[in-house]
Amino acid sequence: MTVSTPSPLTSDADWWRSAVVYQVYVRSFADSNGDGIGDLQGIRERLPYLRDLGVDALWLTPFYTSPMVDGGYDVADYRDVDPMFGTLGDFEAMITDAHALGVRIIVDIVPNHTSSRHPWFQAALAAAPGSPERARYLFAEGNGEHGEQPPNDWESIFGGPAWTRVPDGQWYLHLFDPAQPDLNWRHPEVRAEFEDVLRFWLDRGVDGFRIDVAHGMIKAEGLPDVGFNSMTTGRRQSELLGKGRLPYFDQDEVHDIYRAWRPILDSYPGGRMAVAEAWAETPQRLARYIGPDELHQAFSFDFLDATWSADSFRKVIDTALAESTIVGAPTTWVLSNHDRQRHVTRYGDGEVGLRRARAAALLMLALPGCAYLYQGEELGLPEVLDLPDELRQDPAFLRTGESRDGCRVPIPWSGDLAPYGFGPAGSELSWLPAPATWRALSVAAQAGVPGSTLELYRAALRIRHTHPALAGTDGITWLESDPGLLAFRRDTGGAVLTCVVNTGDAPVLIDGYGQPLVASEALTERDGGHLLPVDAAVWFERR
Ligand code: NOJ
Ligand code: CA
Repeated sequence: MTVSTPSPLTSDADWWRSAVVYQVYVRSFADSNGDGIGDLQGIRERLPYLRDLGVDALWLTPFYTSPMVDGGYDVADYRDVDPMFGTLGDFEAMITDAHALGVRIIVDIVPNHTSSRHPWFQAALAAAPGSPERARYLFAEGNGEHGEQPPNDWESIFGGPAWTRVPDGQWYLHLFDPAQPDLNWRHPEVRAEFEDVLRFWLDRGVDGFRIDVAHGMIKAEGLPDVGFNSMTTGRRQSELLGKGRLPYFDQDEVHDIYRAWRPILDSYPGGRMAVAEAWAETPQRLARYIGPDELHQAFSFDFLDATWSADSFRKVIDTALAESTIVGAPTTWVLSNHDRQRHVTRYGDGEVGLRRARAAALLMLALPGCAYLYQGEELGLPEVLDLPDELRQDPAFLRTGESRDGCRVPIPWSGDLAPYGFGPAGSELSWLPAPATWRALSVAAQAGVPGSTLELYRAALRIRHTHPALAGTDGITWLESDPGLLAFRRDTGGAVLTCVVNTGDAPVLIDGYGQPLVASEALTERDGGHLLPVDAAVWFERR
């Protein structure tokens, strides 16, 4: 079942249009030296696994020098590797090996904010109000008689005010943790610095960037109040995220930044790309981030947010495909990432959640465009809901009680004892503990086992790469079907692949779409057709 011939990197500049990208949360993927923390050398050692899984590219979460207040999304040096993860030499060895195996590398770039330990912010703190050092960040005077109130009502995404006061009385903006001060993107030095950081990594061969908070760099002039905040409504301002326009997100001027970045990407050979983590009020506004003079992709989180129902999926798929047709870019599908509860758990957890997650994988992988997988979803990992509070590291946890640690538990690779081969033989350390139930979910426990989630992903990815019906980038054709059923067709050059998903509450007899190629649950033959169980999906082919 595994693809074992190395495929050298193709020179196709459009590779990203239909790629399968695997997100590596570096800290939790594989630990090469036994300190309980995943690292670059660990990724390097596991590249053959990823190649055999059948992914085209990896997206690596930040591995740069960082105090790790927000899992590395607080960068102190954009041009170096944190010792926790290895060295620049390890990065170079890893990317060289990845490319030799035909796997591309996308790195995260965090331009909205730096770490408070970044030399620029340290210099800003040491300098006086109004100094050039402070101008690279967003410092402002407070309100109230003595400036004792924050400059406006903006709230941090992690809870609490988005402003922190420094000893001389000024306040600085941090849309996330106080240890993540927001940069002033109207400052030319900030722009020049990040253009140089892009080149630094492009020169080291990276194939693309995932842009963190891509909608956040420009704040409305005058820093106006939102008017909706915890004080006035008792509800957090972040509830408006993706629903209304906030003065600190999705401002028109942010597009100038990407229009400046695109020629830099295009000046390198091989199709270097960028994907935006952007939140916008409507799919139409999200689509403005993509196109030939801006970014290549923007995550479609509506797909991730769809509930387990045929109607909900149909609606978000139609909207996303329509938007992408208008801008001439592929859609970008994602079911899980390091910020969201894993989809096994979102879909109901336990056996039901797993069945639905497996079916959703077949749905996503049959769609045209680019699919992003989150490490461990190919093993059917659920969210770990019962981590002891004292082990949780998400900075949002203390302020909001919400924590993203449960989707960041280290990957189980093999063996009978936790952390299940996450580290070198005999190592017992892992920065978050894996539950005992994960012994049965490890890579070794699933590899070669018919019907396992890992083998389902391997089979689906192999078909996705080789089946002529999936070769095109055209849209899909919905087929008439019972309520609760989602059925669509992809065709190219005479080959037809039909994907059917049963979100209803009874098995459905399916007939007339040809031979089943892969199914998320066993099918039973009946009356010349196939009975598709509930919470299951299947691909049929006709050539
Ligand atoms: C989005 C990242 O995915 C998340 O993990 C991080 O906390 C915020 N951006 C802030 O950088
Ligand atoms: Ca390590």
